[in-house]
Amino acid sequence: MSYFSFAIGIGAQNKKGEWLDIYYQQPLLNPSDALIKAAAAVAGHNGGNEAITLTKAQLVELAAALDGAGESAQAELASKLQNTEQPVVVTFIATDEAPASVPECYLKLHLLTHRLVLPHGTNLTGLFGLLPNVAWTSEGAIAIDELADRQLAARMRGTVLEVSAVDKFPKMTNYFVPATTRIADTDRVRLGAHMGDNTTVMHEGFINFNAGTLGASMIEGRISAGVVVGKGSDLGGGCSTMGTLSGGGNIIISVGEESLIGANAGLGIPLGDRCIIESGLYITAGTKIMLLDDSNQDVEIVKGRDLAGVADLIFRRNSLTGRVEAKTNKTAIQLNEALHANN
Ligand SMILES: CC(C)(COP(=O)(O)OP(=O)(O)OC[C@H]1O[C@@H](n2cnc3c(N)ncnc32)[C@H](O)[C@@H]1OP(=O)(O)O)[C@@H](O)C(=O)NCCC(=O)NCCS
Repeated sequence: MSYFSFAIGIGAQNKKGEWLDIYYQQPLLNPSDALIKAAAAVAGHNGGNEAITLTKAQLVELAAALDGAGESAQAELASKLQNTEQPVVVTFIATDEAPASVPECYLKLHLLTHRLVLPHGTNLTGLFGLLPNVAWTSEGAIAIDELADRQLAARMRGTVLEVSAVDKFPKMTNYFVPATTRIADTDRVRLGAHMGDNTTVMHEGFINFNAGTLGASMIEGRISAGVVVGKGSDLGGGCSTMGTLSGGGNIIISVGEESLIGANAGLGIPLGDRCIIESGLYITAGTKIMLLDDSNQDVEIVKGRDLAGVADLIFRRNSLTGRVEAKTNKTAIQLNEALHANN
């Protein structure tokens, strides 16, 4: 059978019964055949990608079936979820196709955040369009057109409904906190971010979905959707990495290992290993760059895209001429171990 993913989730729906969000405590990549067989029998699943809302009676059956299939952790989860009035769903993803439902979208975002797949490791085509825009509040996810009534109801109880965001994506930490990470401002990391071991995101840092780090990193700049930062690399305060969602760019931006994007700098090409971009300098694919030799003599003019993935370079804007230059980085950065030894 060999399914791509499976999870039992609990979430919020609007008054029409449409999903607003789903929390999957224990998402699975490549679940066992025995688990799929057991869950499919209870849920009435006949193959393909499908999200099925379960009744309490089905949850009782599911817990027993999963136990019988040797899946004790999933069985325990099913058992706990028998005691809720909130909607519970089982989501089967047989094949990693473009998601077709909100539960599938949320499961894929969980797979990324739980480090079960790497950024670009699952098909997210059309996900942005499928996700509803939601008010994220102190009472959970609320449909925008139901917000005013809920605000009034809260006032009538003498409280204020706190709306912390109005967005298609919730913040990651309300769903999962990856081990050995630090996040100074949790609003800055969206569900679907992939945070490698020993990654720290400072207040100005940001990580979008389907993007993130692969290992130890100090992130004080923005990791746009789709951007992947290699282990040991740092993003300086307020720096920018170009996303591919808007603006026409279709090159996937990445940062190699042990590289540094300086404060307020920007990256619009895939950057190689052990590279530095001077603070304040934005390198785009079309930026014309003078290559310098070891004695700072001109060699040739190239474009940013020609240096995509090239290792051991320092990019700087000559402060006398305004010209962008690249030369060999002889002092590959040594990341501050005290900063990275964050746990
Ligand atoms: C680009 C950068 C890496 C250069 O640092 P460096 O390699 O230590 O270079 P130095 O400052 O020692 O300068 C070496 C020489 O190049 C010159 N130089 C440096 N930057 C220059 C520039 N933009 N234009 C012209 N000359 C420059 C220096 O004046 C010096 O000249 P000298 O040999 O005549 O003394 C550094 O300026 C930088 O921007 N680092 C990013 C730090 C950062 O933002 N961290 C994140 C914090 S949140």
